[in-house]
Amino acid sequence: MDSSILSFPDRGPWGNSSYRGNCSGHVYRELFQALKPRSFCDPMMGSGTSVEVAEEMGISAHGLDLRLGFNAVSDSILAAIGHHVDLTLSHPPYGAMIRYSGSCWGTEPHPDDLSWCESEEAFHEKLQMVLLNQREATLAGGHYGTIIGDRRYDGRYVSYQAEAIARMPSDELVAVLIKCQHNVQSSRKAYAAMRLPRIAHEYVLIWQKRQRQTFELLKCLAVQAGGRLRDTWRAIVHMCLVQLGGHASLVDIYEAVRAAADDRCASNRHWQAKVRQILNQSHDWFEPTDRGVWKLKRSGVVPGGKVRHAA
Ligand SMILES: C[S@@+](CC[C@H](N)C(=O)[O-])C[C@H]1O[C@@H](n2cnc3c(N)ncnc32)[C@H](O)[C@@H]1O
Repeated sequence: MDSSILSFPDRGPWGNSSYRGNCSGHVYRELFQALKPRSFCDPMMGSGTSVEVAEEMGISAHGLDLRLGFNAVSDSILAAIGHHVDLTLSHPPYGAMIRYSGSCWGTEPHPDDLSWCESEEAFHEKLQMVLLNQREATLAGGHYGTIIGDRRYDGRYVSYQAEAIARMPSDELVAVLIKCQHNVQSSRKAYAAMRLPRIAHEYVLIWQKRQRQTFELLKCLAVQAGGRLRDTWRAIVHMCLVQLGGHASLVDIYEAVRAAADDRCASNRHWQAKVRQILNQSHDWFEPTDRGVWKLKRSGVVPGGKVRHAA
């Protein structure tokens, strides 16, 4: 693999080209050639493209799917296949473009079918559960990943791949590849009026599993989430100080923060203490110039309140 962009207009002979949402077998071939797994599992094999490619390459392969009675959200992949593997790779359905249970197969929608999630939030949460399930079935040092796209509808853009990356251990992420999409059945008419281009790619996200106990994994994800929350508070306080000219009293900062982050303030009774904590602990960003008066460290504000302007 010499590029991070995968583009295969021809899907090859593997799997079934009439199975909705099927993937080109060449994508799996490239990934197997690069990662060299000896054992592999696809917990959402669909028509079996990945498994056929793997078997042809002499890789011991396991294919599971909700269609075959295996639920990747709630059933253990490790228990289903009986041993850890070098690589687990899923290709989940996302959004409501293609519904699987009750439509492509079966008579009723299945509550854990990822193509039937009741909200985007529910999808993000279930995909994280699937990825942690995949990770559990992967040997330490092996790889786990997913092939996923983003979606634009009702004037909004939902980035499934960004959420997946944010919810998994950041020190295990090893690759984000772009997979060009060919022959997708999307209505060109629906896109005709849009100023922004139609989405013509998916992502292949790959993580490499580190040796960690479950409690260490939880700690790692909690630290990651906590760090992001702290950074968000800092970014809000920073933005308010920028708007206040880079130099303001605590009272003015409180007022600006309350106006900017009303929801956050409403859900945190101690938000003023949080603002003071952020100011006091972020020495790289904020410095006091007087009692209860703060300035941005790197703004153009000079002591005395004047703002430097470019000549
Ligand atoms: C995009 S298709 C995979 C296509 C496959 N890569 C191919 O080339 O044929 C997604 C598959 O995920 C399955 N699926 C949806 N929710 C699932 C779940 N909770 N557990 C396991 N499989 C699920 C669907 O039945 C469907 O076959």
